[in-house]
Amino acid sequence: MKKCKIVCVVGTRPEAVKMAPVILALKAQAWADVRVLATAQHRHLLDQVLQVFGIAPDIDLDMMQPNQDLTALTARMLVAMDAVLKSERPDVVLAQGDTTTVMVTALASFYLNIPFGHVEAGLRTGDMRRPFPEEMNRVLAGHMARWHFAPTESSRSNLLREGIADASVHVTGNTVIDALHMMAGKTPAATVAPGRRLMLVTAHRRESFGAPFVDICTAIRTLVDRNDDLEVLYPVHPNPNVKKVVDELLGSHPRISLIAPLDYQPFVAVMKAATLILTDSGGVQEEAPALGKPVLVLREETERPEAVSAGVVQLVGTNSARVVEAAQRLLDDPAAYRAMAKGVSPYGDGHAAARIVAVLQQFHATCN
Ligand code: UD1
Ligand code: UDP
Repeated sequence: MKKCKIVCVVGTRPEAVKMAPVILALKAQAWADVRVLATAQHRHLLDQVLQVFGIAPDIDLDMMQPNQDLTALTARMLVAMDAVLKSERPDVVLAQGDTTTVMVTALASFYLNIPFGHVEAGLRTGDMRRPFPEEMNRVLAGHMARWHFAPTESSRSNLLREGIADASVHVTGNTVIDALHMMAGKTPAATVAPGRRLMLVTAHRRESFGAPFVDICTAIRTLVDRNDDLEVLYPVHPNPNVKKVVDELLGSHPRISLIAPLDYQPFVAVMKAATLILTDSGGVQEEAPALGKPVLVLREETERPEAVSAGVVQLVGTNSARVVEAAQRLLDDPAAYRAMAKGVSPYGDGHAAARIVAVLQQFHATCN
């Protein structure tokens, strides 16, 4: 029986985290010939994660440029992706999420008539500019996909509302929970100094560049000044639009540690150690509830409503007074804290990759 050649594309840190379980599960299949294609839209952040999971790209487009422009990145990547897919001639292409890499992968596959599978399909805010440009990227990628691997029933409903055929949608859970399970079992919580509480912060969204980022930093500083026992750990995203502001506004406080992005395993260790997490990250919104950590989301909307409905994630936006009020309540009120630290995991059971593999195996069996 001919093997099914599957090109798995990764570009940024979260794509590597979420594709790693799929790549590893596919590599264990005798019927699958797996090729890992790194666009390297991110360089160091991508390499960090691939290394942790022991994945070496077969092809590396080395796309990242400092402070890259969306249009230039998209144009360069589309040309390079087209050339690779023409020479590789895969039976299937897979990519995850809503980055430039995913949108370009879907488009290049569509132009070459190669079936494209979208991992983490169907997430929507309903606002094309929030998050920017991710909502547009995932809508476009979705409409070019042959398979939609939706993490939840609500993401499946979003797809059906857009006219996507029911038979092409498979609710699998989110592969981020598979990745977290792989890591969390062998990762103890990081150490926090006695008598101190840890607040973990990450933020990088484009729609927050400028004034919203200043507001976020103001809130963090206010919280640390008000709470003598609070330590802030902030692994800062290397995007210069983030790093410059954060360094300027938070760089000098003795209880705020601005550090380089952490490898995935140490990051899981600090999530486990944290009392509270402030983030605008998609992946962290999914991981933290599974670890029983309350999350305040520094955005006005989320495409991940399940954890908000479950009461373990709260959308607070970027207004500093609002962020401070919500965080202070959790720091002061044990009942409010306990209600948000329930350890609910609405995004999956850790077996999403196996479900994706089963769908692709079925496809392979029918076309041989
Ligand atoms: C990208 C994704 C976003 C995702 C995020 C995850 C797009 C448009 N955006 O945003 O959806 O949530 O990744 O982190 O696809 N940089 C480095 N080293 C790295 C990575 C980035 O120095 O390893 C710097 C570079 O200056 C780079 C800049 O960050 O040009 C921006 O990278 P880019 O991938 O365009 O955007 P992100 O903000 O990282
Ligand atoms: N992460 C990490 N090190 C860090 C910060 C985050 O390994 O210093 C992981 C995190 O656990 C999650 C993923 O990176 O799995 C999220 O990436 P990011 O926030 O950059 O992107 P998003 O999920 O918002 O697209």
